Amino acid sequence: MGTANNTAVDVSLMDQVFEKYREQQGALIPILQKAQGIYGYLPPEILQLVASRLGVALGKVYGVATFYSQFYLEQRGKHMLRLCDGTACHVRGTTRLMTAIEEEYGIRPGETTEDGELSLEVVYCLGSCALAPVAVLDEQVMGRLRPETLLQQVSNHISSQQVMA
Ligand code: FES
Repeated sequence: MGTANNTAVDVSLMDQVFEKYREQQGALIPILQKAQGIYGYLPPEILQLVASRLGVALGKVYGVATFYSQFYLEQRGKHMLRLCDGTACHVRGTTRLMTAIEEEYGIRPGETTEDGELSLEVVYCLGSCALAPVAVLDEQVMGRLRPETLLQQVSNHISSQQVMA
């Protein structure tokens, strides 16, 4: 299955965050935001650590982390591809796009490539139905997509970012 390798989480990176919010009551959300900024997602070890350092129940921390869509509990790839499967996009070929990504990268919605480069999510209407089928790659909106164009764009995007890194 296409899941990124879990590497050990260095919990000591959170020290600076707890230090920064030491005086602030109720800083749970900003602390979780900082944690996600550090790790890219919210690993269980970190949720546990946040609960014990703030003296709040672990269930509450999980409650907040799962309530807000900005938080991720699973490791995600460096790049995020969101394919729209709203009605307009669906009838114009989202399924073909999804199949192309699965064949090329071995991932289905909710999964990440083994090398941690790409995650795939499905969304329902991006408000650009006139451009259907639509996808968003990181921040870049792409419309009227055909499978070949999509694969080309994704591959170009990933390799251009690797060169910059
Ligand atoms: S249905 Fe895909 S943008 Fe509206």
